[in-house]
Amino acid sequence: MKQLLKRAFGSMGLEIRRITRPDAAYTNLPDRNLYRPLFSPWYSSQSQALYAIAAPRTLVSEDRCYVLATLLRQALHLPGDIFECGVYRGGTAAMIARILRDARSDKKLYLFDTFEGMPETDPARDLHRAGDFSDTTATAVAKFVNAPDIAVLRKGFIPDTFAGLEDRQVAFAHIDVDIYRSILDSLAFIWPRLSPSGFVVFDDYGFPSCPGARAAVDEFFADKNVEPLCLQTGQAVVSKLV
Ligand SMILES: C[S@@+](CC[C@H](N)C(=O)[O-])C[C@H]1O[C@@H](n2cnc3c(N)ncnc32)[C@H](O)[C@@H]1O
Repeated sequence: MKQLLKRAFGSMGLEIRRITRPDAAYTNLPDRNLYRPLFSPWYSSQSQALYAIAAPRTLVSEDRCYVLATLLRQALHLPGDIFECGVYRGGTAAMIARILRDARSDKKLYLFDTFEGMPETDPARDLHRAGDFSDTTATAVAKFVNAPDIAVLRKGFIPDTFAGLEDRQVAFAHIDVDIYRSILDSLAFIWPRLSPSGFVVFDDYGFPSCPGARAAVDEFFADKNVEPLCLQTGQAVVSKLV
């Protein structure tokens, strides 16, 4: 009967796993309530409190915010500032600013966006169109992020808005611009300036709505001996290993 059920579920692409055990090792498992069915720390109260900062104005889900926050905290001891390319209404930017404030970091958070929506896209590579995400303003984002001592808004077209930052190092970058050209342009500026052991997180790598994102990332790293780590969240991560 057990085998029959396993096979029936298996044919539908489903797997049956027993998650309740009477053993003491299971009963004493720390954070047992977070196994849903696997350990899901983005549901912890600490992660939920951080996500609550971004949630009112972000498109980024709580598990992706958890990835961002976890990697960012580990990059805070590295030299360099924090870059976010693709800010939209400021959700993830506000969360990043809070992490910097909580850590009493003296890093700056550079925020790059047109704050007027997507620029021209490449219909052969992108599904987004010019003008998508235009329901935002730089003023509203600055108010929401509420960290004038930390956040520097760079309004305009990437890569033009990198001008003047050529001598910066980058400890951590969140690239969330969704389209082929913008991702390539962001990487071309950021990668040579990324500190050893620093991270770049790509929000859109695995999303079928952003085919140009994966194409740009794979193309950029094809000759660099770097293999982007694709996560189940849809994000991809690269680090400059030393
Ligand atoms: C998905 S949204 C960012 C989401 C945001 N991180 C959040 O928390 O919801 C993508 C943003 O990338 C911006 N963008 C894309 N290409 C750009 C470029 N070349 N220059 C400036 N902004 C760009 C768009 O204006 C849009 O606001």
